[in-house]
Amino acid sequence: MKRLIWDAPARIFHWALAVSVAGAFLIGEFGSHDSPVFYVHIFCGLMALLLVAWRIVWALLGSRHSRFGALLFRPAETLEYFSAVFKGQGRYYAGHNPGGAIAILAMLALVLGTVFSGLMIGLVGEDPFAEIHEVLPKLLLLVVLVHIGGVLLASWMHKMNYTAAMFSGSKTAAETDAIRSSRPLAAIILILYLATGGYYLWSGLDTQKGQLNLAGTSLSIPLGESEAEAENETGSEHAEKEHSPKDRPVNTATAKKHHDDDDDDDDDD
Ligand code: HEM
Repeated sequence: MKRLIWDAPARIFHWALAVSVAGAFLIGEFGSHDSPVFYVHIFCGLMALLLVAWRIVWALLGSRHSRFGALLFRPAETLEYFSAVFKGQGRYYAGHNPGGAIAILAMLALVLGTVFSGLMIGLVGEDPFAEIHEVLPKLLLLVVLVHIGGVLLASWMHKMNYTAAMFSGSKTAAETDAIRSSRPLAAIILILYLATGGYYLWSGLDTQKGQLNLAGTSLSIPLGESEAEAENETGSEHAEKEHSPKDRPVNTATAKKHHDDDDDDDDDD
């Protein structure tokens, strides 16, 4: 019999995180780092950060399958689960299974590391954060693919649509595994938190100056090449040919260095 397993905040969190991570990844990989669209990459990354921050709180306050305890399994149980999976007989869990839990913890940690390294490129400079910000998203993609593969494998093993359950909240489960409420009030609070947080971050993104202003604080994080700088650079396109715009990292320190390089070129002329 189908019973309520995932509360509404867990479901909203899940699909919002999937969209923001996918958005940040796709723009980061395939978008031009010099175009205003790159600010959407930064925005998606910051939204993912807001989501993970909220998820940590929800792991303390949420219903039982959303709590930290639901993500922590003893090593012996994890090994037992994996050896059964290899025989196509992984035990059915109404909430997270031990394999899913490892992927989930890895994804949360990788999202945090990725966003942190991205912000540090702007704050401290490229070294070594640009390299970390290249590697972590690729690792995150790998874990996401493993996660989706695991969901499909479990769906096949237990003849149940796990993906649909992440929308509806309901899965086949014993009465003792069911949660009592989908926590609608917390879901409304989450939506308000995302809407106000998103509005605040979006209005703090200053594309003219290429920085994120955290209003109400004196903190302003340099992010990328500003529109003014980008316009200046289009005037010296001959020098640009040496640096593909896609390859050029976007932070003000780097942008300044390119200008200095350009000045040197001009001196040589
Ligand atoms: C960027 C893409 C994705 C990310 C970052 C992601 C991340 C996560 C996270 C963090 C959780 C834990 C949710 C919680 O406990 O609050 C989770 C669970 C889950 N995800 Fe995803 N996910 C992604 C894509 C998908 C897709 C495409 C599907 C469907 C094929 C999916 C299906 C599920 C399901 C069914 C669960 C519950 C797992 C379980 O039964 O233990 N996810 N995901």
